[in-house]
Amino acid sequence: EKGGYDYFMLKEIAEQPKAVADTLLGRIDASGLLTLDEVRIPAAVLREVDKVVIVACGTAYHAGMIAKLAIEHWTRIPCETELASEFRYRDPILDQRTLVIAISQSGETMDTLMALRHAREQGAKVLAVCNTNGSTIPRESDAVLYTHAGPEVAVASTKAFLTQLVACYLVALYLGQVRGTKWGDEIEAVIRELSDIAGAVDTVLETMEPVRRLARSLADKDTVLFLGRHVGYPVALEGALKLKELAYMHAEGFAAGELKHGPIALIEEDLPVVVVVPSPRGRSVLHDKIVSNIQEIRARGARTIVIAEEGDEAVVPYADHLIRIPATPTLLQPLVATVPLQVFACELATARGNEVDQPRNLAKSVTVE
Ligand code: F6R
Repeated sequence: EKGGYDYFMLKEIAEQPKAVADTLLGRIDASGLLTLDEVRIPAAVLREVDKVVIVACGTAYHAGMIAKLAIEHWTRIPCETELASEFRYRDPILDQRTLVIAISQSGETMDTLMALRHAREQGAKVLAVCNTNGSTIPRESDAVLYTHAGPEVAVASTKAFLTQLVACYLVALYLGQVRGTKWGDEIEAVIRELSDIAGAVDTVLETMEPVRRLARSLADKDTVLFLGRHVGYPVALEGALKLKELAYMHAEGFAAGELKHGPIALIEEDLPVVVVVPSPRGRSVLHDKIVSNIQEIRARGARTIVIAEEGDEAVVPYADHLIRIPATPTLLQPLVATVPLQVFACELATARGNEVDQPRNLAKSVTVE
């Protein structure tokens, strides 16, 4: 049932292009408009939404952090993303005009369930983004957008994460479409690129051998740091989470701009630091900033592992290891940038002799608070 792979995780990483394509299937019509009728929240209600709050845990929370950036950019509706386990304990401000999005692969995560119950008690509308048909979270929500990743068996989430991102982009674009905000060339181009993104994920998967080699060479390290900015920051957090849960290594993700406010003191000779570089097109200021971050850490002896878009030459002089990913629109980059980090963590875990599909102390769905 592992389809020839040694681990479910490897199989599920390989299934990502299909999972992404399946999650888009039937949701974009021939004219490039989104057809999310299955989200049965009336357009009139969506037009009244004045705040979006996303609740989720772990990997799904990282998808939510990226969704926040997409929603605010494409709809101009204020959006916040919160750890589901923290949410209801701070007496959050919610009302009928708040749209709460609960993201959960299993649909059974107790922290997320309790957060959405609290939101509904306050009168907010809840949309679930979920991979498991008929599970508790969609049943208790006002609406659901299913991700079509298929069953995810490995404890570490991979294909579910990519499909959560796709579903969140669709929600963000749909909100923009319904409300008519910023609906223009950029959005149409993004929808076209989204339709092609499965191919880009495939391209990344085909070029992973050097990443595996690199991972094996780092098997005796104690610490790996991950840096990113904008959508690259949640990707860095996700890379660090994968490494913690699979390789049992000390791994931390930082917003690269925060380095100088403390974490740079951690940098020492030969410390592996993975940097997720935004596209040099689009937000070029951000790109320049991160290039100088890479220079700073390299000057202090870090071993830089740079994930950068094809054709980005500015990073070359400062990259000890360079991992290329296809060019995508800025907001979609996590769909390709996360894949090498999954492969990296899986390979490191294997090299360290860990059980990849069943990491110690973890369960696939966390049904206690
Ligand atoms: C990490 C991982 C967990 C889950 C989290 C939420 O690889 O799998 O962090 O993402 O427990 O689970 P769901 O999405 O089922 O609510």
